[in-house]
Amino acid sequence: MSSRLEAEHLYKVFGRRPDEAVERLRGGAGREELRADGTTAAVIDASFRVDPGQIFVVMGLSGSGKSTLLRMLNGLLEPTAGRVLFDGQDLTALSDRELREVRAKKISMVFQHFALFPHRSVLDNAAYGLAVQGVPRAERERRAAEALRLCGLAGWEKSWPDELSGGMQQRVGLARALATDADLLLMDESFSALDPLIRRDMQDQLLTLQQTLKKTIVFITHDLNEAMRLGDRIAVMRDGRIVQTGTAEDILIRPENDYVASFIQDVDRSRVLTASAVMDPHVRGDEADCRCETATPDTPFTALCALSARLTHPVAVLDGARLVGVVPRQRLVGFLGDQQGEPTPCDHPRDEGKVTARA
Ligand SMILES: Nc1ncnc2c1ncn2[C@@H]1O[C@H](COP(=O)(O)OP(=O)(O)OP(=O)(O)O)[C@@H](O)[C@H]1O
Ligand SMILES: [Mg+2]
Repeated sequence: MSSRLEAEHLYKVFGRRPDEAVERLRGGAGREELRADGTTAAVIDASFRVDPGQIFVVMGLSGSGKSTLLRMLNGLLEPTAGRVLFDGQDLTALSDRELREVRAKKISMVFQHFALFPHRSVLDNAAYGLAVQGVPRAERERRAAEALRLCGLAGWEKSWPDELSGGMQQRVGLARALATDADLLLMDESFSALDPLIRRDMQDQLLTLQQTLKKTIVFITHDLNEAMRLGDRIAVMRDGRIVQTGTAEDILIRPENDYVASFIQDVDRSRVLTASAVMDPHVRGDEADCRCETATPDTPFTALCALSARLTHPVAVLDGARLVGVVPRQRLVGFLGDQQGEPTPCDHPRDEGKVTARA
């Protein structure tokens, strides 16, 4: 199956003679070298794919090129080099008119500081994207009301934006993006301005909505915990380049370089890891028939800890009826520490007692 969204070797250079700069970057020049000439390499050779229904998170520090990358994905910025394919269509080859059409119907963007129109009702604000598309009033109000309901704002349609809290206003922004039925949602630090509790609430809401709507989402954040919570896959950017792409567990357990390793130091691993990541897949013969209290590959880390505390032997992980791994208690402890890689059997001998079959 082809992927919904694909970025192929994207570059964006601001400043003089951008094409020349791209050649120099391809030849191995760094961002700093170019900056000395007054040229900014905002995005350097970014490639990735996002499958339909996935949340792809781009994470990186301020200035790493996240917003520039996102703006190239909907054609707001033209890449200096490279292509963006959306449903197989090359966005970089479209005329301005065709691009506007794709942007109005298929792609929605939610910004960090969502500017609602103060003198329009919540309903009109949510219907704005549809008004731009020329959808008749009755239909756009129906669709906007439905989007508001999905975002937990039923009953607020007639209110004014300043009667809503910051989090609610942000949800109106999300409703506006959802109302257009766009398949691709681009979200640039959409929750960053919210206080922590509301932010978590919005993350939950997005995940819940996503279960039924199955949009293709590119979500930008500089918050690693948010990235780990939301992302089916995560790209880490540094100085314009994507330095690693993978699942939350990939990034946490197998950081590909020191930069990513230092980035993930403070992540709360217990919120991210599941049994499939922490189990030892090499099951010994004498463990093979342990079926008393078991976990599945999706069992969250905290639940594993609770199970492990009750047992005197490793937790068995079953995929259906098949035993796919075991989790000795030491392994759990190892993953909670600053240990970056997988615990080795030598570091963590299984001395918790032999696993025996129970009736
Ligand atoms: N229009 C522009 N002209 C010149 N330089 C730009 C322009 N837009 C962005 N840049 C530069 O490109 C680099 C990447 O900026 P970008 O806004 O993509 O970063 P970001 O990762 O989104 O940062 P933040 O987390 O602060 O939003 C920065 O060095 C910025 O100064
Ligand atoms: Mg930005």
